[in-house]
Amino acid sequence: MEGVTEESYRLAVSKAFPEWDLYATDFLRVPSEGNYKTSKVLGHFGELAYKNEKLRKKTTFQILTSSRANTQQTVELIDAIGFDHLDLNIGCPSKKVNAHKGGAYLLSDIPALREILKTIRSNFKNCFTVKIRIGYKDTNNFEDLLKLFEDEGVEAITIHGRTRDQLYRGLADWSYIKKAVEVSNLPIIGNGDIWTTADINRMFAETGCHSVMAARGALKTPWLATLYREYGDEINESFLLQERKKFLEIYFYELDREYKREGRSEDHILKRFKALSRYIFDDLEEGDDLKNNFLRSRSYNEFSDVLSSIF
Ligand SMILES: Cc1cc2nc3c(=O)[nH]c(=O)nc-3n(C[C@H](O)[C@H](O)[C@H](O)COP(=O)(O)O)c2cc1C
Repeated sequence: MEGVTEESYRLAVSKAFPEWDLYATDFLRVPSEGNYKTSKVLGHFGELAYKNEKLRKKTTFQILTSSRANTQQTVELIDAIGFDHLDLNIGCPSKKVNAHKGGAYLLSDIPALREILKTIRSNFKNCFTVKIRIGYKDTNNFEDLLKLFEDEGVEAITIHGRTRDQLYRGLADWSYIKKAVEVSNLPIIGNGDIWTTADINRMFAETGCHSVMAARGALKTPWLATLYREYGDEINESFLLQERKKFLEIYFYELDREYKREGRSEDHILKRFKALSRYIFDDLEEGDDLKNNFLRSRSYNEFSDVLSSIF
């Protein structure tokens, strides 16, 4: 997730909640002018995260590119440094990105997308996957896209069940995920509106998908995989709230440690914590008050006091 899953975040979450099967970097934009050096690519992933072999194997490196960008050079570099998993972002709905014919725009231009897929496939030897929406303006070419990915050697498809034009409106349409499972031979990863363990079970039951991906749900409940692995569907609300408090403490403790290890100032850490608190207090009885107090904290110490008051 852009602005969230930087190295320190991934290190902290993987320490606190190792039950996730796969983590993802936010996207590295392939440059249209000039070339990246090894230090830029490695820096995007994070050197510590790279040196941690177990975590590296569990992390997908995401890129975002367009026909004009120098995809070959960047992918060659990613391959040479040695990553296990490369993911192409074909879902980003940003106006600026789409105006440069990148992200979700590529869903509407199959010839351009085909060339990019060929370039990546022929220059990256390990697992290559794509992350898509169900269309750009509409879903008319959805099945053509699925066929394209199979033809061009993609190894799995993550599908966010909204078109680019829908942005985040309405509910994600999981029927397209089901459709993809039916017509494609590739593993399909279902995405969109997974907030709880019950949603995970429902996604599997309704679509038959291979696995699921959570974004906002993982921001709200960074320990969602832990709950799913350890308790499945058998959790009642009051238990969940008790667990939320316990896990919140672990989450912020590990984040704090990673940010401090990176030498960030307390002001900076406070800003990061505020940015990460959008959904995190939801469902707690006193959640609205906590969030307000949290967002109003003027210092790291004030913030720590609010946090301590929860436990
Ligand atoms: C803050 C934020 C940043 C995101 N950044 C990325 C990104 O870098 N790459 C990507 O493929 N999707 C990104 N997404 C989209 C999510 O991966 C996901 O497809 C979308 O949020 C729907 O899933 P959800 O309902 O689980 O949030 C981002 C979403 C959010 C909320």
